[in-house]
Amino acid sequence: MIKVDLTGCKSFFEASGPDFAAAASAHRVLSEKTGQGADFTGWLELPRLIKRTELKGIIAAANKIRSRSKALVVVGIGGSYLGARGAIELLRPIQRADSPHVYFVGNGLSGDYINGIIEQLGDDDFDVNVISKSGTTLEPALSFRVFRALLEKKYGSNAKRHIFATTDANRGVLHDMAVAEGWERFVIPDDVGGRYSVLSAVGLLPMAVAGIDVAAIIDHAIEFFQAMDLRSPENPAWQYAAARQHLYSRGYGIELLACYEPSFRFMAEWWKQLYGESEGKNGIGIFPASLEYTADLHSMGQYVQDGPRNMFETVVSFSEPLTKYSVPFRMGDPDKLNYLAGRDFSDVCSVAREAVKAAHISGGVPNIVVSAPRRDEYGFTELVCFFELACGISGYMSGVNPFNQPGVEAYKKNMFKMLGKPE
Ligand code: PA5
Repeated sequence: MIKVDLTGCKSFFEASGPDFAAAASAHRVLSEKTGQGADFTGWLELPRLIKRTELKGIIAAANKIRSRSKALVVVGIGGSYLGARGAIELLRPIQRADSPHVYFVGNGLSGDYINGIIEQLGDDDFDVNVISKSGTTLEPALSFRVFRALLEKKYGSNAKRHIFATTDANRGVLHDMAVAEGWERFVIPDDVGGRYSVLSAVGLLPMAVAGIDVAAIIDHAIEFFQAMDLRSPENPAWQYAAARQHLYSRGYGIELLACYEPSFRFMAEWWKQLYGESEGKNGIGIFPASLEYTADLHSMGQYVQDGPRNMFETVVSFSEPLTKYSVPFRMGDPDKLNYLAGRDFSDVCSVAREAVKAAHISGGVPNIVVSAPRRDEYGFTELVCFFELACGISGYMSGVNPFNQPGVEAYKKNMFKMLGKPE
């Protein structure tokens, strides 16, 4: 089970320490659905719901795609793509030859990027999974036009069998197109916001296509949410939420999420959206940033060690590496590295992690460690459920509605006006 270690922030806490009792009551409000935005807390029951409803269909669709296509093009932005990308890069950093390659488009407005993906697709057989809860988001809608046209050119009237739409159950432009055209459909439940939707078809279909065991993920998510509901001060979600709110109240307004696995990069992007969109409102909120260690220690390390003292670090670590690789011995020791010969890279990395932690704490950066199990389906599930739960608790502790995102509309209004969208 996931563990949170707060020893690296104790010296930065006030004598009273984090308010774990407040975390406990925020958790109660969340699970009793009596807080702000309670109608968007369906993610708590999502694993159980999906197991009863769509899981089999998702796996069947994924198997169909896996058996006939070399690639899946996933069209989506924000909560409609980051979780799936995070999962696939974490669990399948090197995509297997026997699995379709999963491409992500619709997450920006770069024609060069689209052209690059089309070039990589070449003549390969492919399917498209278009994902949009609203069905009206410009970036994915434009990309979908492009890839739908490519499918039609390639497969003619059979193109519709290569399109899978994940969207609202009853409304929206994408829903209406899918019904009219007869595309296979999956649902983003009404009470689940984009950034909490990774354990719905939004995340599960692309993951299953990449060969990830989504049934195991859902089973473990059900167990994890049940276990987390036990009221205990040891609850890692309370510890994390209370510690970060306490640090925020002490002037630490920036949280750096760091991990020593490069494959964690898009999980960190997913986490940034989860926390940024949930907490940054009403003029308050911890700014979520991410760093990839040790690479970023050679670029941002100076700032972390010695810049303004307004940031704390949350380091995600995995209990054991998936594989072993040890430093080779070299006769004559020309590069003076034989003192490490025979030691596993993961062992060298753990020492580096402890050294960085001590240096950053002594430089004035509070340190939280989130220890996950192995970097597999089990570890991924724990991280997702833990961060989602802690985010809801933390948002309620800070007094905001962690489930809305009114701020993201402002740019859209300007953009549509400037682009001349008809009223
Ligand atoms: O969390 C959110 O609500 C957003 O990030 C959305 O997921 C994102 O804007 C995409 O929206 P949609 O799925 O409606 O296209």
